Amino acid sequence: MSTDRPDEASRASLWVASTAPPSYERLAGDLEVDVAIIGGGIVGVTAAQLLQRAGRRVAVLEALRVGAQATGGSTAKVTSQHALIYRSLVDTFGATTARRYGEANEWALRDILERIEAMGVHCSLERFPAYTFSIDEGRRDDLEQEAEVAARLGLPARYVTEVPLPFATAGAVVFDGQAQFDPVPYVHALANSARADGARIFEDARVTDLEERGERSVLTTEHGTVTARDVIVATALPCFDDGSYYRHAQPGAHLVIAARVEGDRPDGMFISIDDPTRSLRWVERDGVTWMLLVGPRFAPGDHDTTEGFADLDRFAREHFDVRSIDYRWWNEDYYPVDLLPYVGRMNKDTAHTYVATGFGGWGITNGHIAAHILADAILGQPNEWAAVFDSTRESKETDSSPLASAGRMISAGVSTVRYAAARLVPVSAGDVEALQPGEADVIDLDGERVAVARDREGALHAVSALCSHMGCELGWNESMETWDCPCHGSCFDIDGGVLRGPAVQPLESKQSAIDQRARP
Ligand code: FES
Repeated sequence: MSTDRPDEASRASLWVASTAPPSYERLAGDLEVDVAIIGGGIVGVTAAQLLQRAGRRVAVLEALRVGAQATGGSTAKVTSQHALIYRSLVDTFGATTARRYGEANEWALRDILERIEAMGVHCSLERFPAYTFSIDEGRRDDLEQEAEVAARLGLPARYVTEVPLPFATAGAVVFDGQAQFDPVPYVHALANSARADGARIFEDARVTDLEERGERSVLTTEHGTVTARDVIVATALPCFDDGSYYRHAQPGAHLVIAARVEGDRPDGMFISIDDPTRSLRWVERDGVTWMLLVGPRFAPGDHDTTEGFADLDRFAREHFDVRSIDYRWWNEDYYPVDLLPYVGRMNKDTAHTYVATGFGGWGITNGHIAAHILADAILGQPNEWAAVFDSTRESKETDSSPLASAGRMISAGVSTVRYAAARLVPVSAGDVEALQPGEADVIDLDGERVAVARDREGALHAVSALCSHMGCELGWNESMETWDCPCHGSCFDIDGGVLRGPAVQPLESKQSAIDQRARP
């Protein structure tokens, strides 16, 4: 498909749309394993491979498709350069923690490259420098200071004034020797490797209940139960959350386009610190050069995605020789309030349930590290990075300030509550008959908030407008035709089916009420 019309462009990522996935089994009946992993992204399948290889019986339960959610929507930069993070880490946690965060991500980069080579994965792997740039001369100091701090921490960082982009910049922090790849074949290769060792990988296996029964946990799906000693909740935000991670990590969504471009491609991958943010990378595929362009972060359910995509289109065409824009998608990650991901036990009282969340948009290397930390914890092995990412923030090994960190967590929780309250103000008198194909509204119907959307064929669909996770009011994502939650990032299709958690239950149908109302 090649088109410039947004409504005809693929809503799947370039990676997902262009990879023929292997088939995975469906759960049928009850199963007992040593380790159950909820989520088939990079964390889940990497941990599965490690644990199965170490002799544990492993089952991965993916609600939809392996590697096709957050991992498959990623730009898949494999890098320790995470925009301007190191100076902030030093300020918040001190130099030791900042250094170890950088070392962990550099190690993950090397380890991923070794795995790709060992497994012989064809995943468009390329080595490039990673640039963090600005077009604002006023940000030059920030870039220079970040480069200086990162270099002092031992990272391959330097400040440059020449940036290989076709527009003027104020310079950049560049990290040499970084990488980029296609994450989907990599995840499938890991899953196949785990399967070859005996792991069970299930798709269409949404876990709707997790119950700890003594030394065992029971996971319930529509098609059977899985009983396990250890459980890893490897969904983007934990879908089962005894640690209040929904308060500690805020959802952030980004729009992404993949454009066919002509001309020389820059040697590098890029992210800006400007407003609006731009992130760019290129990939060659079947003789076509694709440019991936990512826009600014926004709260799901509270953004004009049509205008957001139009803004990306304008930027791409202004600066590059764009022949067509074939893929438009959005991706989501969770941003920890204190910058460090949360990896480890679900809470300090839990011995066998683990989480990994809050990768801050850098989920490839952070996800790889998380999988190793969790696998080592389950195997009873030490892990040199565990203290840095400690989910309970209790570690004595970091030089973090628990008080400062806790204060930021609380204020983040308050802002979420305020936001949810603001969304509960009535927004519409509810003239649903006037909705055009692709349009939607939230209405009051017999005292309830109802989300009504008209599909492209003209039919009305009605579901509860209150998120099945914790009841926040949903917003319509016109470009993706989904109902998105601004509080913790759940996403539902037009009929209320869960596309992204942390919600695990569909939205309540209000179809009969809206059908009755529409009847003459
Ligand atoms: Fe938590 Fe919607 S995702 S209330």
